[in-house]
Amino acid sequence: MSIMKTLETRNGELYLGGASVSKLAKKYGTPLYLMDEGEIRANCMRYESAMRKYYGENAIVLYASKAFSCKAVYRTVRDCGLGCDVVSGGELYTALAAGMEPEKIFFHGNNKTEAEIREALTAGVGRIVLDSGFELGTVDRIAAELGVTARVSVRIKPGIDAHTHDFIATGKIDSKFGVALENGEAIAFIGEILKAPHTELCGLHCHIGSQIFDTRPFVRAAEVMMDFIAEIRDTYGYTVRELNVGGGVGIKYLDSHDPLTIEENVKNTAEAVLAAAERCGIPAPRLCMEPGRSIVGDAGLTVYTVGSVKEIKNVRNYASVDGGMTDNPRFALYEAAYEAVLPCRPDAERDTVYTVAGRCCESGDILIRDITLPKLTPGELLCVLSTGAYNYSMASNYNRVPRPPVVFIRNGEDRMVVRRETYADVMAKDLD
Ligand code: LLP
Repeated sequence: MSIMKTLETRNGELYLGGASVSKLAKKYGTPLYLMDEGEIRANCMRYESAMRKYYGENAIVLYASKAFSCKAVYRTVRDCGLGCDVVSGGELYTALAAGMEPEKIFFHGNNKTEAEIREALTAGVGRIVLDSGFELGTVDRIAAELGVTARVSVRIKPGIDAHTHDFIATGKIDSKFGVALENGEAIAFIGEILKAPHTELCGLHCHIGSQIFDTRPFVRAAEVMMDFIAEIRDTYGYTVRELNVGGGVGIKYLDSHDPLTIEENVKNTAEAVLAAAERCGIPAPRLCMEPGRSIVGDAGLTVYTVGSVKEIKNVRNYASVDGGMTDNPRFALYEAAYEAVLPCRPDAERDTVYTVAGRCCESGDILIRDITLPKLTPGELLCVLSTGAYNYSMASNYNRVPRPPVVFIRNGEDRMVVRRETYADVMAKDLD
């Protein structure tokens, strides 16, 4: 249970952020996403204070919306002084509706539509992060039409293998994101941007992957990017004044996971950037970081009700719950590992191995393969831990299953921030 900081046992039952998990399950029903808003705030403040301590004021933390996007989370991170990154018109729309300052929104994406670029420029977002030459043409043309200057950053592939799952390693040359350093594509692209009349080059960006435990790839990426800023200066006489090092610090899904702390990661990256600035003789750039998972991941859990329990002798025990890949597709996609706890008897002896399965018509609809739990009884509650990131945001209506609600807890008080979908919501777009 120690994998989530604000999860504890009180009077023999599970509490998250000071609230009884089983009471909330009774109040809101299951499946249910619970998120400790206090822990989201604490994670934001860990980034904020480490950035001030190790880098100073010329820095900004941008919450990576893709981890979990809804109005309440934007209000929470904004309250803590963070901006955000968005990767779609939908995330941009939600961030603006929640009151996020446009200046503090960075717009990413490897294939933004013209409509999205127009929306972003009209809103006055802080940066459009250019991903390709094709996009530069579109951005410059739309900026001209709107009579504005597009302030851009450029997504660079620094050529770092971050030893993560292949699907989420994005800094390598064989990636759909960004422009590569090692084949000269990036330096040529910078020349094109500097010539574009309605576009101002403000920064460089890289993101080397997600759920990374090792500090070296982050430090190496920062050094490579600083060397590239020096190369741009030497080639074009232009000094880039902002470096965005992306997100990617891992969190603890299992007890055996040993991620860096937020403070360690910020410290190591900040020191690498400052040292490289000195080495290259360039001014320390404005430092941007874009954490997603490490802000919301360990603040959330999902509560389910156990239904059918099948013990297939000498084969496997399946315990099915009332949610599954529709609220958490991460095992189906990445074979991601999770821990589970029974909220009404968290300390009961664990003696039976189960595969916790979802309720969808799909054999791959598994939440956890082979976890040792107390012997399960149909009807009891089961929590899957550390589901705050990339669960609600990746949820679907497969099998027309309505999405669960999201409830925030702060100082023991609960409030629903996303309501449960109804069958009518699921059908709302169907035309007669
Ligand atoms: N910035 C950029 C440009 C990104 O592409 C990402 C994540 C982040 C920031 C935030 O990274 P984080 O701090 O959350 O690691 N769906 C996958 C994760 C995909 C991450 C994609 N990019 C999963 O469920 O593991």
